Amino acid sequence: MRIDILTVVPDLLEGPFSHSILQRAKDKGLAEVHIHNIRDYSTDKHKNVDDYQYGGGAGMVMSIQPIAACIEELQSQREYDEIIYMTPDGELFEQAAANQLSRVKNIILLCGHYKGVDERIRELFITREISIGSYVLSGGELAAAVVADSIIRLLPGVLNDETSALTDSFQDNLLSPPIYTRPAEYKGLKVPEVLLSGNFKKIEEYREQEAYRRTKERRPDILDF
Ligand code: ADE
Repeated sequence: MRIDILTVVPDLLEGPFSHSILQRAKDKGLAEVHIHNIRDYSTDKHKNVDDYQYGGGAGMVMSIQPIAACIEELQSQREYDEIIYMTPDGELFEQAAANQLSRVKNIILLCGHYKGVDERIRELFITREISIGSYVLSGGELAAAVVADSIIRLLPGVLNDETSALTDSFQDNLLSPPIYTRPAEYKGLKVPEVLLSGNFKKIEEYREQEAYRRTKERRPDILDF
């Protein structure tokens, strides 16, 4: 899978993709992440990427020209399954969307900045708009990193233990049950007996019960039974 991220602050995206699971995914050739500086595509003599809002109002608007030039260049090289605009007024990002996006080949993530992009970019190029939560970030970069991370970790072969993405919270509309490691007792707090029992059927039952209990308590909205 290939993810192209378009931004006016590429430095913000240097870190997230050069560590741990995401770096491993790149090293294994399972995911490619390319960061593009929108400013490099500006034909303006000062390399401007934004302009004043028509009709007045506070805040600059990201101009059409450099964004269109960048997207068109990428589109001339390969076909994109989705061109996604990161914006607080997009669809709320959930595990189901991550699962869906992990099955496509090429994605562009466009990061908004300032007040956002000229509406015509959305009309002409964007196939999907995603928000990572009901709050406003200073730009779409951190949101794009969140989306890319959640997709890449689902690609077959990225996680060491193939089953571990399947037992994540939110897969099956359940949160994960509590987990423990050694020691078996810490400051009087004991690991539940059943987890030490070696009885896999009982352990599985316990985990299912706890996942259900936790979901009912914390996120009853995602329970579908
Ligand atoms: N850009 C600014 N805020 C955002 C959010 N909550 N989700 C996605 N992109 C954003």
